[in-house]
Amino acid sequence: MKEIEVISKFTVYNKITELNAEEQKVMTKAISMLDSAYAPYSKFYVGGAAMTESGNVYGGCNQENASYPLCICGERVALFNAGANEPTTPIKILAIVCHNPKVIIETPVSPCGACRQVISEFELRHNSKIKILLKGDSDIIYKLNSGQDLLPMSFNSSYL
Ligand code: THU
Repeated sequence: MKEIEVISKFTVYNKITELNAEEQKVMTKAISMLDSAYAPYSKFYVGGAAMTESGNVYGGCNQENASYPLCICGERVALFNAGANEPTTPIKILAIVCHNPKVIIETPVSPCGACRQVISEFELRHNSKIKILLKGDSDIIYKLNSGQDLLPMSFNSSYL
């Protein structure tokens, strides 16, 4: 018998200006995407942005539907936007921001399980880690160095 410990780390920043220039650019795009979110049912607005290794930034935001299960998360729209435009380029930074007019979200949003699985696939597909930046309403930003920190032991193509 042996025990295996999985350690996950993230860094806490107190304001956006503590990030490097590239990170600030992606975070600023994610914040701007909040205005395009289509969330008439939940009123939970999510903006996302993904920067590829070529330096291009692709935005996304959540897209809801009266048929609730069809709703798609903002970070997935951003990732798929990047994947559709640059299918062979690794993604280096993903920023995710949320806003709920009913509640002040002090702590940064944490992506849902489905989005974690999608982030994992993008990392494995390009064999490249994605830096993840998370933000709520306050200035606090969390930074993770890889999707692996959000989803250790992910399901992957090696089982197929
Ligand atoms: N949502 C996201 O966009 N990202 C997440 O990580 C969690 C949830 C969206 C989906 C839906 O439009 C709304 O937030 C409420 O669940």
